[in-house]
Amino acid sequence: MSSSAPKLWAGRFALETDALVHQFNASLSFDQRLWPYDINGSIAHVKMLGECGIIPVTDADTIQTGLEALRDDLETGAAKLHPEAEDVHMAVETLLTERLGPVAGKLHTARSRNDQVATDLRLYVRDAIDGLRERIGAVQDTLIALSETHLDTLLPGMTHLQHAQPVRLAHHLLAYFWMLARDDERLEQARARVNLLPLGAGALAGTTFPINRQRVAQLLGFDGVIENSLDAVSDRDFAIETVSALALTMMHLSRLSEELILWSSHEFGWVTMGDNVTTGSSIMPQKKNPDVAELVRGKTGRVFGDLTALLTLMKGLPLAYNKDMQEDKESLFDALDTAHLSLSVMNTLLQNTQFNAERMAAALHGDFSTATDLADALVRRGLPFRQAHEVVGQLVGDCVRTGRVLEDLTLDDLEATSGLFADADPAALVSPRGSADARAAYGGTGREAVTAQLDCARLRRDHQKE
Ligand code: ARG
Repeated sequence: MSSSAPKLWAGRFALETDALVHQFNASLSFDQRLWPYDINGSIAHVKMLGECGIIPVTDADTIQTGLEALRDDLETGAAKLHPEAEDVHMAVETLLTERLGPVAGKLHTARSRNDQVATDLRLYVRDAIDGLRERIGAVQDTLIALSETHLDTLLPGMTHLQHAQPVRLAHHLLAYFWMLARDDERLEQARARVNLLPLGAGALAGTTFPINRQRVAQLLGFDGVIENSLDAVSDRDFAIETVSALALTMMHLSRLSEELILWSSHEFGWVTMGDNVTTGSSIMPQKKNPDVAELVRGKTGRVFGDLTALLTLMKGLPLAYNKDMQEDKESLFDALDTAHLSLSVMNTLLQNTQFNAERMAAALHGDFSTATDLADALVRRGLPFRQAHEVVGQLVGDCVRTGRVLEDLTLDDLEATSGLFADADPAALVSPRGSADARAAYGGTGREAVTAQLDCARLRRDHQKE
């Protein structure tokens, strides 16, 4: 069996490609989304070929006009890539050839699919990064808005998933803001390494034609050119680095998801997700499930898998291009799509989730989460912290054995525990709000500190938008 598609490289072949081999070799089904980038890259390339006198300017103009018309027609759907083409580069060139005739064949002068695909991918990833950063910013803005609303909402901060110390909900939400700020920064830094031009590397060794790579870089908005032609066509570190940054973003989103899932449970009741962002059960009429958060948590695994696939794909490949590298696309696109979608839906979820301040406050009652404050009070009255810790530890143990909580303690109880508690105000000492507000040191959960943190977060957003 032979494939029906005529190949642009068929010259040296005596037999047509076996249909199964064609199918196995083809990438159009998953690389067709690159066509706008492929056309833009070709327009810059052909313009430069004309300017440098490598092909006649009239031919360059004809090809450029043809590519622009093709771009319009592919956009409107008036033109379609032939499904039997081997890959997106062949598909675009075939369409152009159908329209322009043999002059279209001059486009591929001083170019190879190896530097072409690397260029297309970099243009694609650059755009994707810009879109992702916008999505990250949207979630950050929602976190800021929620933090403003919940500046004075307290909840039990946890370590080991055990009540630890009271914290402001704003403080808790802003923790995710800063994780996302670093994710944004990583993408910004990755973008700088993505935004370099491989085109002009040819198949691997460079080209015999007097091309002007700087000009192509300028036309495509690249910050510079890749110095080494072998490196330009060989590496996919820019894709791996981007997916690696996204793996961290997903890891962060998965933690936020997990907390929202936990907090929406009957036992916690700290959040109520809107009916528009939850789903029901086909058998249990009462169910309202946090599917969105669960799916974001689940999709995190996909992105980790994509990263592992890309690293494994590239490991041990000899220079320069190897066909293995065609396999980079599905993992890369999946990671970019998944992260983009997850960020978008997380924003919608957060905007439609109610945070239940009373339930959080109730959870603080009798949870011993102000025990550190009692110890700190003793320290302020002169006791070394280790001894204060011991004294309060015994008091907590006593309470647990006698079925009391810190809020039950009277001044007499405290004074019996340590003379240093003389004339203390037990209610103030064990108050969750007092505890939170006392953490006034920079970066802590005190009201002033969180207010200052919010200001920093707003500044950070302004900076990100620059
Ligand atoms: N579809 C190919 C890929 O994505 C394009 C590059 C093909 N190069 C080659 N020498 N066969 O990797």
